[in-house]
Amino acid sequence: MSQKFAKNLLITGANRGIGLEFVKKLASRVDILFAGCRKPSEAKELNALKDVHNNIHVVEIDVTCEKNIQACIEEVSKVCGEAGLSCLINNAGALIKPDDKVTELTLEKFNHIFSVNIFGPSIVCKHSLNLLQQATKTHSDQIITKPLIVNIGSDLSSVSIMDRNMGFYYSYNMSKSSLNMFTKMLSLEIEQDGIDVIAIHPGWVQTDMGGANGTLTVQQSIDMMLETLSTLRQDQNGTLIDFKGETIPY
Ligand SMILES: NC(=O)c1ccc[n+]([C@@H]2O[C@H](COP(=O)([O-])OP(=O)(O)OC[C@H]3O[C@@H](n4cnc5c(N)ncnc54)[C@H](OP(=O)(O)O)[C@@H]3O)[C@@H](O)[C@H]2O)c1
Repeated sequence: MSQKFAKNLLITGANRGIGLEFVKKLASRVDILFAGCRKPSEAKELNALKDVHNNIHVVEIDVTCEKNIQACIEEVSKVCGEAGLSCLINNAGALIKPDDKVTELTLEKFNHIFSVNIFGPSIVCKHSLNLLQQATKTHSDQIITKPLIVNIGSDLSSVSIMDRNMGFYYSYNMSKSSLNMFTKMLSLEIEQDGIDVIAIHPGWVQTDMGGANGTLTVQQSIDMMLETLSTLRQDQNGTLIDFKGETIPY
């Protein structure tokens, strides 16, 4: 039998787009897959997958609500037991179009986008940390060599490469830049625990967010991201990379 990608894995925003495709590709490559979404009863495709793969647990998680995050992680913890959580994918994300002019900004818009794209993932990490630490004690025979936090980032977060021809979304780009800082800081804080943290840009992907003109299908993006995540190097810890594993400068 081929080696598992990870033992137990939680992914947020798993009901559509990139998250749903991760579930499709990973269901047979993990022991337990916690597929997080805001409204489990309405997640038709996820529930259909659950009927085929009995290791999928559809769990409710709205990343903008700490109580809800906490309840979700408690549920995950009960199922994982001693094994803990070997991989967390912070995938849920939001983008509001258009906000390409400073005059279009509102606090309400900023609050929403930052809540989903950076405050939420940070709080999901906070509540998952014990489970990830638990997994370091039992980590063996998995493709990811250590427990791993994957933050789905974006090339639009990069201050170094930003120019007028790239997607120009104030709230989105700024929130993903903050996710880079969080990735770097968390990697420094928990490296001694034996947990890695990476931010990965999935490419421009044909999803509701990416639109039909995206250069990659979800299948192509996830295949390449999984290949890249399977061959991570220690010097990539705390960095932003793209789906091919190339570094994107912060
Ligand atoms: N597509 C691209 O080209 C592209 C490029 C770079 C980075 N990304 C990143 O990739 C990730 C996935 O994007 P996508 O293209 O798959 O987008 P998508 O198709 O719009 O899906 C977004 C997902 O996030 C979930 N979500 C939104 N708000 C949430 C909340 N408060 N709590 C929990 N889940 C929430 C959505 O759930 P609901 O159905 O409940 O709204 C949905 O499952 C995002 O982090 C995005 O920034 C995408």
